[in-house]
Amino acid sequence: MQEDIKKVLYSQEDIHNVVVRLGKQLAVDYAGKNPLFICVLKGAIVFMTDLIRQIDEFVEIDFMDVSSYGNATVSSGEVKILKDLDTSVQGRDVVIVEDIVDTGATLHYLIKLLSTRQAASIKVVALMDKQAGRTIPVKADYVGFDVPNEFVVGYGLDYAERYRNLPYIGVLDEHVYTH
Ligand code: PRP
Ligand code: MN
Ligand code: MG
Repeated sequence: MQEDIKKVLYSQEDIHNVVVRLGKQLAVDYAGKNPLFICVLKGAIVFMTDLIRQIDEFVEIDFMDVSSYGNATVSSGEVKILKDLDTSVQGRDVVIVEDIVDTGATLHYLIKLLSTRQAASIKVVALMDKQAGRTIPVKADYVGFDVPNEFVVGYGLDYAERYRNLPYIGVLDEHVYTH
């Protein structure tokens, strides 16, 4: 698996430091609010599990499976719900947890949906923000890393469902998807 990685972009230590920073900030901003953290499956699972353990406040969690990429390296722009939330967001302070914001299509769709469902507030925490990929102008409120315009995998992020279990974030070598 590791031989498919051209370079390590963020090491386990880099990621840990950023997750601690984001967790501390969220703990302050959401103290006493009992926020609902929504993990956007599947990419955000690794980040989500690390992030919530850095927050020394009551939080609830739920999961939603929304997919826009399929098995391609370029976003199709299409968003579909594969699994909905179990929890009602009405009147809740929700925090959408994303591994990466690229075109913005997933986030745009989710924010619209959750506001229709009358969440009290909606904020976004994204481990990575790929601003060069943006086609819809949405912004994450809390960002770990601003990433260059490269195809990154690991720490939850996949290429064709692979590499999610890499403990670091790396750039995929072109030989993997050009043959
Ligand atoms: C990836 C990533 C984000 C989304 C970002 O998910 O995890 O959720 O794409 O791209 P966008 O800003 O262009 O919408 P994907 O749809 O690949 O599903 P996955 O998380 O299950 O891999
Ligand atoms: Mn995703
Ligand atoms: Mg994906």
